[in-house]
Amino acid sequence: MRMDGVLKLYFGESNQPTPEYIRRAALQAMEAGFTFYTENAGLLSLREALAAYYLRKQNVALDPRREIVVTASGVQALNVVIRCVLDPGDEAIVLTPAWPNGSSIVAMANARPVEIPHPLRGDRYEIDWNAIEAAITPRTRLLVYTSPSNPLGWVATEADQDRLLELSRRHGLWLLADEVYDRLWYEGETPGAAVPSILRKATRDDAVVVAQSFSKSYCMTGWRLGWVIARADLAAKATQLNEFIVSHAPSFTQKAGETALRDGDPEIAAMLTRLKANRDYCIDALSRMKGLTIPRPEGAFYLFPRVEGLTDSFAFCRRLLEETKVGLAPGVAFGAGGEGSIRICYAADRTVLEPAMERLGRFLSRGH
Ligand SMILES: Cc1ncc(COP(=O)(O)O)c(C=O)c1O
Repeated sequence: MRMDGVLKLYFGESNQPTPEYIRRAALQAMEAGFTFYTENAGLLSLREALAAYYLRKQNVALDPRREIVVTASGVQALNVVIRCVLDPGDEAIVLTPAWPNGSSIVAMANARPVEIPHPLRGDRYEIDWNAIEAAITPRTRLLVYTSPSNPLGWVATEADQDRLLELSRRHGLWLLADEVYDRLWYEGETPGAAVPSILRKATRDDAVVVAQSFSKSYCMTGWRLGWVIARADLAAKATQLNEFIVSHAPSFTQKAGETALRDGDPEIAAMLTRLKANRDYCIDALSRMKGLTIPRPEGAFYLFPRVEGLTDSFAFCRRLLEETKVGLAPGVAFGAGGEGSIRICYAADRTVLEPAMERLGRFLSRGH
């Protein structure tokens, strides 16, 4: 982090600033007096905006007073949900490779994360249903998955969603879907179309929770704003727990979130077109390098190539950084199934991606 001149492809964020219309909405909200405490569940006006958004994007009707909780980021959404659901000694199945915070939060709740890797078949990741069934014990309370996935770019199919729902119903588990990348999807009818949420399939009585965030879709990583959609009993608990963690997300940030939801579609579509071009550029560059298997991501903004013969991705990334000043994330950071791969965030500008790909190619051609 202290090295100068690094081509940074390690963080999960774009280098685009928050769009101007969202920044302006926050300034106006401050001027209008949104500088005080709000409800623990967040401003009702934002929860209503979220309900309207789900009706528009997912054709899902939600009760803004009972089923939506605003949180101070996606990670805080995961935090309150996981802490509500797990008691010490419980177990949670986490599909990996995944952003490591899910497993860490499970561990912080004094519960045990049981990581089940997505197997790679051909150039597509799948779900290892047998391994999940075998891992379920009387202490298993929760199954966590991420779609679109960080770091895989994998997106759950409709059949996957049906089966996850059936499995969680049959075993009496909570099903937690991290959908923070739902707007970064390359297979939709139009750029920026949302990946169909698990909420389309779940009834409002199902033990299903969605963790969400403004960070990725609206380039608002530093704002810390997210939300939870949950069955009403869990939403009530998450609201209570919010009080003891951060109480609520900042008031003017919440107001800006309303504007983002209402006016954000054109910017998201433009971003998706740019990201798709970046993805295709990087896949093309990587496919000309020797010894890489490059699963084709359907969503998010990551590539997760597997490097032939690689057993220490941390050492690989460290050497790559020191010798070429290209910063990537080691696959080992993403839990079971991650070792042997490297994560490339392609949300950067071409002026960064092009030299980074060129240096990575040269590094790999020297052997690792
Ligand atoms: C899969 C996943 N979930 C949640 C988050 C949390 O995002 P934030 O806390 O910025 O809202 C991230 C951020 O990288 C992520 O990759």
